[in-house]
Parts: sequence; structure tokens; C-alpha cells
Amino acid sequence: MKTPILKIEGFGKHFTLHEQNKRIPSSHNVNLEVYAGELTALIGPTGAGKSSVLKGIYRTYLPSAGKILYRDKNGVEVDLAQADEYRMLQLRHEEIGFVTQFLFCLPRQSTLDVVAHPLVVRGMSREAARTKAAEMLTALNLPERLWSISPATFSGGEKQRVNLARGLVARPRLLLLDEPTASLDPVTAERVIAL
Ligand SMILES: Nc1ncnc2c1ncn2[C@@H]1O[C@H](COP(=O)(O)OP(=O)(O)O)[C@@H](O)[C@H]1O
Ligand SMILES: [Mg+2]
Repeated sequence: MKTPILKIEGFGKHFTLHEQNKRIPSSHNVNLEVYAGELTALIGPTGAGKSSVLKGIYRTYLPSAGKILYRDKNGVEVDLAQADEYRMLQLRHEEIGFVTQFLFCLPRQSTLDVVAHPLVVRGMSREAARTKAAEMLTALNLPERLWSISPATFSGGEKQRVNLARGLVARPRLLLLDEPTASLDPVTAERVIAL
């Protein structure tokens, strides 16, 4: 029997608006298992709570209920709903990646350096990291004339390809993708799924 890399049990998230004394439910009783080498998709209408599940796994949000059992590269199981901040930072650097719908970047950093960054964080030299970044940007069809400038002014689809390249380049064990192909043309969307 296969062991899941990620097992979510009874995950829930709600937000409390203190000033209005209101409780906004976001995700409720989410259960799922994710296995190595597989693509797992969360589907549902807008507002169903899909992004909230991903943000709970990455701990952008602290979950309100449930367990998020992740098996790390040493085979140790960690509940991401309970893990301390230091452990989460370590896992984000080494094992878990997140590609959001939005790109956050420093204004004067070149696209190549934005994409190379996760590899530099893991100890690769800047030159080697930039070579890997260039390969990934080529695979994702981002024109070479854009590599030396900042993605700040790119179109939605160009930004999304930079974001995806940065998420894919370090080959994290668990990659969380939020609407990864939303602003891409069909050919690039196919490439992303293949990668
Ligand atoms: N930070 C937040 N504060 C308050 N409500 C939020 C917050 N984030 C998400 N929500 C609410 O939680 C619900 C689920 O949102 P989300 O997880 O983004 O859904 P989906 O990704 O499926 O469209 C929505 O009603 C949304 O308004
Ligand atoms: Mg969403």
C-alpha cells in the first residue's frame, strides 16, 4: 500500500471579523490524500475555499481545525497545522513550494534573478542558478528579451510564467499551485501541466 506524502483530515478555516462580530466560514471538513508523482486537483466554484486549503498547507493562514500531515524527505511526519514558524520556514526553503495567482517581486530585480532565487537560497551559486532559471523560462515560452528586466511591468500571462518558473525550478517535493494556468494560452497551459 502506498503512503501519502500529504494527508489532510478535517481541515477547516474561518475568519473572524472582530469589528463586525462576524464569523466567515472559508473551508469546512476538507479531507484529501496526495501521493508522490501525482497531480491532485481541487475543484469547486469560486469562494468554495480552495485557495484557503492551499494557504493552510503553506501556513499563510493558520488553520482553524484539522490536521495537515506532511511526510518530509526523511520520512518524518509533521502536522503543518501545528508546526512552529521555524519548521515552516525550513520546509518552505527546502521542500514545499507555492505558486500563487499573484507575483511578488522587488522592483529592480531581473526576471532571471527572480526565478533563480529559490536555488540560491538552497546554496547554489548565482551563475549555476541563473543557468537553470534560463532553462525553465525557455521551457515556459518566456521570450529571452524579457529576462534581464524586472517582471513588475509584465502582462498577467508573462508574470504567471515567471511565477511558475520560480515555483518549478527548485523541484520542491510538494508544489502547491493556485489557478496555475488561469492567464495562459492553451499551448503554454499544456506545457505547464507537462512540467
Ligand atoms: N483573509 C480573509 N478574510 C476574510 N475572508 C476570507 C479571507 N480569505 C478568504 N476569505 C473568504 O473565504 C471564502 C473562500 O475563499 P477562497 O479560499 O479564496 O475560495 P476559492 O479559492 O475556492 O475561490 C470566501 O468567501 C472568501 O471571501
Ligand atoms: Mg482561489
